[in-house]
Amino acid sequence: MLNTDTRHAPPAGVIRHLRPSELGQFKAHLLRLDMESRRDRFNGPTNDAFLESYAERSFQRGTIVIGYVENGKVLGAAELHECAGEPTPTGEIAFSVERELQHRGLGSLLFERLIASARSFGYEKLNVTTHPQNEAMKRLARKFNASLRFEDGETQGVIEIEPPLPVPARPGVGSFAMA
Ligand SMILES: CC(C)(COP(=O)(O)OP(=O)(O)OC[C@H]1O[C@@H](n2cnc3c(N)ncnc32)[C@H](O)[C@@H]1OP(=O)(O)O)[C@@H](O)C(=O)NCCC(=O)NCCS
Repeated sequence: MLNTDTRHAPPAGVIRHLRPSELGQFKAHLLRLDMESRRDRFNGPTNDAFLESYAERSFQRGTIVIGYVENGKVLGAAELHECAGEPTPTGEIAFSVERELQHRGLGSLLFERLIASARSFGYEKLNVTTHPQNEAMKRLARKFNASLRFEDGETQGVIEIEPPLPVPARPGVGSFAMA
């Protein structure tokens, strides 16, 4: 008999950047988050109107959003919001995976891809904030070498990003470095 139990089937979608035209799908993802995930994600209760304007603001401001996408539907997201005015290029990052897909490795895959993106955009430091009871997020942050500290009732994580490698010198071509 055909096994139709898909609860533990491996995720079949892709991890990729969202296009500007995918604002609606990002919004729909945030709106599908259950109450507990919303509270964990935003460190407090959130209503639908807040989530809709949050998604719009993120896209207007050029936030990097990487999605876990299945059949055109965004079911997980990693975000990088630039922190303006910092002495080193810094981003604030955040993650959300819909309840049915949590604890299946997607958070880790999104994190890995977000770090690669941050590096290619020249970010040197990433901050992540969560509440101290959010074990999944703390574990995820530690896995990617975040140094965690407790401050004002929140857990703050910092990740240092290795700079991209310089363009390699090619024989017979003048160096790009200027004296
Ligand atoms: C945090 C979140 C993004 C993690 O996504 P995920 O797809 O479940 O992550 P993974 O499956 O890759 O698991 C990441 C790590 O957390 C651990 N973990 C996952 N769920 C856990 C749970 N409920 N309790 C304790 N640890 C948990 C996993 O074991 C894994 O650690 P390991 O690799 O050392 O075993 C997801 O739980 C989520 O969306 N939560 C609601 C929103 C939120 O809390 N966002 C973070 C604030 S920015």
